[in-house]
Amino acid sequence: VSDKTRLATAANRIAWDNSAKHHATGASWDALITGFGDPAYSVLDKTLTNALRAAGVRGGEIVQIGCNNGREVLSTLALGARAGLGIDQSRAFLDQGEILTKISGRNCQFLCSDIYALPLDTPNDFDVAFITIGVLNWMPDLAGFFKAVANLLKPGGQLVIYETHPFLEMFDPAADAPFAPKFSYFHTAPIIETLAITYDGTVHDDAPETHWFIHRMSDVLTGCLTAGMQIIEFQEFAHSIREVDYDIYADQDAQLPMSFLLRASKPAS
Ligand SMILES: C[S@@+](CC[C@H](N)C(=O)[O-])C[C@H]1O[C@@H](n2cnc3c(N)ncnc32)[C@H](O)[C@@H]1O
Repeated sequence: VSDKTRLATAANRIAWDNSAKHHATGASWDALITGFGDPAYSVLDKTLTNALRAAGVRGGEIVQIGCNNGREVLSTLALGARAGLGIDQSRAFLDQGEILTKISGRNCQFLCSDIYALPLDTPNDFDVAFITIGVLNWMPDLAGFFKAVANLLKPGGQLVIYETHPFLEMFDPAADAPFAPKFSYFHTAPIIETLAITYDGTVHDDAPETHWFIHRMSDVLTGCLTAGMQIIEFQEFAHSIREVDYDIYADQDAQLPMSFLLRASKPAS
């Protein structure tokens, strides 16, 4: 692992831990506390639910990388997964995941680790791995990331990615002219900010610095292929799965792609 990757992931771990307190309060958190009391509760939308079903979630062991408070990996148990593992390097968010797990009574565990430095005894025979909104851009090195993710899967296992479309990263909804591209599609330096990480823009505290990386769609596809995965489904969508301030880019005549879904399999031998 390079120094760039180590420095960025260490900074991001501190920033995510620091932001966790903002997420364990308010209406969204209350909805999770109430929701996970219901055995059928799931926060997953139709697109992701269908992709996980196609990937074989029913009866399988599933791992989520960058699981945050665990709400999504816990939801896969309602889709029939046999067991879930959420991997994240933020202890403070995994503590929230433990609270939700207890309420739900679902068969889910958490591993607190940087994906670039997984313990040697991490299981490597998952049926399904998945990554959702807001993970790839925290990764300084996509090739190394996909190698680590592919290693978690058994031969024949499938990976599902449901993420922000890289084109959207060219725009900043908080800019004076939010419809003018702000960042080059080919920007490679980290974008370093010192804002608390929230999904609704309600907290404006200064916070530890975050390192955010713009990747091209070709970086995602190449990272996946170089890790030995075979792409079996790839879709681009006009709908947003991002924070609410990105909703201004939806329902336009000249529509940007806002999200994508990729499903890939690890060859059986
Ligand atoms: C935006 S959140 C994911 C939210 C999730 N999609 C959801 O909707 O609940 C991104 C997560 O990635 C985690 N993360 C960032 N870099 C990581 C790394 N190198 N290893 C493991 N987790 C990491 C952060 O701690 C954070 O919890």
